Amino acid sequence: MFQINENYQKLPGSYLFSTIAKKVAAYSSANPDKSIIRLGIGDVTQPIAPAIIEAMHKAVDEMGHAETFHGYAPDLGYEFLRKAIVENDYKARGCEIEADEIFVSDGAKSDSGNIQEIFSENNRIAVCDPVYPVYVDSNVMAGRTGTYDPKTEMWSNVIYMPCTAENNFVPEFPKETPDMIYLCLPNNPTGTTITKSQLQEWVDYANKVGAVIIYDGAYEAYISESDVAHSIYECKGAQTCAIELKSFSKNAGFTGVRLGYTVVPKALKCNGVSLHDMWARRHGTKFNGAPYIVQRAGEAVYSEAGKAQLKDQVAYYMKNAATIKAGLQKAGYTVFGGVNAPYIWLKTPDQMTSWEFFDYLLENANVVGTPGSGFGPSGEGYFRLTAFGSYENTVAALERIKNL
Ligand code: MLT
Repeated sequence: MFQINENYQKLPGSYLFSTIAKKVAAYSSANPDKSIIRLGIGDVTQPIAPAIIEAMHKAVDEMGHAETFHGYAPDLGYEFLRKAIVENDYKARGCEIEADEIFVSDGAKSDSGNIQEIFSENNRIAVCDPVYPVYVDSNVMAGRTGTYDPKTEMWSNVIYMPCTAENNFVPEFPKETPDMIYLCLPNNPTGTTITKSQLQEWVDYANKVGAVIIYDGAYEAYISESDVAHSIYECKGAQTCAIELKSFSKNAGFTGVRLGYTVVPKALKCNGVSLHDMWARRHGTKFNGAPYIVQRAGEAVYSEAGKAQLKDQVAYYMKNAATIKAGLQKAGYTVFGGVNAPYIWLKTPDQMTSWEFFDYLLENANVVGTPGSGFGPSGEGYFRLTAFGSYENTVAALERIKNL
């Protein structure tokens, strides 16, 4: 008789955003007359920039002719895209990353869930708390997290690094030594980040204790302050301890197009074994490359026109972030984030739990947000709003919240 991966049975409930979608669908079908404004999941709303659409059209036409048709993409990514990534995201920032250290994928969500596969089941993971739920969930599936305590909502074998208003949302070095450290900076969900020198301390710590940092830089395009690193490789010594995950979803609106990449430096080794070679082996076996059309779209992200259009798009969302932040502050809320990231993190009013506030907001303002506790136990009593809506909806949602 076959057996299942029992680790899946340990996962409490469904994936955070699936739970929210179900709740909103149920409310909506019971109240068809209500117009709901969705500021929950961090999904973009602005159309793909014209320079990127043009590149996609051209690539579609190429696929229609035998001479320019493309079949399977190289499994690590087309050279034209890897080169554009290296020139723009690394060399331009003084980071020594080469094109063959870039692994193009169908998005950072897959990579952040899959990367744990190349590490031992016995590794102990450390996560910022709260954080993007994929890191913990994927390690639960792999059997690395121990047992779940529904009271504390914590896993016995996970090291939690609380990031709250009390420590200014800066993770502190844990008392127990982790093997794998997940850092998402700027952080999802708090929208806060750390300075480059604080990040350097994490790199030094990881090199000292022999830990690997899985660095999720999905929100890098939203950084507005000059002392914040755009890549972990801006820190000295990061090549020997860090893997970086990057997404095209938030900076270029590719949530429905799907494209991302992971950097595994060749200098990153464990007892002489190259993690770069391991990830290349894994990628080659389990992934058949992002589509040619999509990789051409990715290349256009780095064209002069693409860069200018995306700068405007980021500014559009950051205007929403400023609108939400100022509006909530005016209404008396305690608010964080929204300066280097498209997320606003607020303290729930009147001691409400995160889920109580979710229901309250949905029912009384018809606005959807994300309960902070869904991102980890230290998120309890907090709530996340995304700046990825349209400006009109953002303004309307704020009016409704102010009028509560
Ligand atoms: C979020 O809302 O946290 C993100 O959209 C999730 C994701 O990027 O997968």
